[in-house]
Amino acid sequence: MAARTKGKEAVAALGISGSPRRGGNTDVLVAEVLAGAAEAGAKTAKKRLADLAIGPCRGCCACVRTGKCVQDDGMTDLLSPMEKSGVWVLGSPLYWWGPTAQFKAFVDRWFGAIRKFPFKGKKVVLVMPLGDTDPSAASHAIGMLRRGLDYVGAEITDVILGPGLGDKGDARKNVGVLRKARHAGAHAVRMAAKPSQSRTTNGRE
Ligand SMILES: Cc1cc2nc3c(=O)[nH]c(=O)nc-3n(C[C@H](O)[C@H](O)[C@H](O)COP(=O)(O)O)c2cc1C
Repeated sequence: MAARTKGKEAVAALGISGSPRRGGNTDVLVAEVLAGAAEAGAKTAKKRLADLAIGPCRGCCACVRTGKCVQDDGMTDLLSPMEKSGVWVLGSPLYWWGPTAQFKAFVDRWFGAIRKFPFKGKKVVLVMPLGDTDPSAASHAIGMLRRGLDYVGAEITDVILGPGLGDKGDARKNVGVLRKARHAGAHAVRMAAKPSQSRTTNGRE
């Protein structure tokens, strides 16, 4: 039976992959989280930031005055599915101890997006593959996202780190991380369907 918010509509789960490498480890893991969400009854959709051409924030702060970004680009197209989805699966590979440029541009544009609709209460699964076998290499990137998501009132339900995933296709061979990803999708949907029972962290990184 589909997980539903407040006894009404099925939970919607939106995957957003910030890797420029199509079909790479981020895409695979985001898709796996979404598969778990679908098994739990969610309606799922997936977007790739590299296909959306989201411009970096210009720092003009027009959005503060008008509630709207001066750039009408791929971010505009993302706002509606983001607003309608109770679960976000946000994925980026680790690039130079941070997220990719595409993902950081997306995050900076939240400055305008939060004036369009509240992020509060969104359930978020973070996904981050990295070449390093030491997961602590991702601690700064995950820490930045934790602080940012906390600032906007969204709730991380799970963090899926994929250390040692350097080559394209490595994620498909890693049964352990695939299983965690699938569980995380189902978990986020259950949390979205029962917001009063939310937890804030899993401390996996
Ligand atoms: C420009 C660039 C920078 C990278 N920087 C790091 C890094 O700082 N630490 C790390 O562990 N892996 C790093 N990697 C490896 C990627 O995180 C890894 O290959 C990841 O699985 C790529 O995910 P994708 O297949 O979704 O693109 C880097 C890769 C690239 C291309």
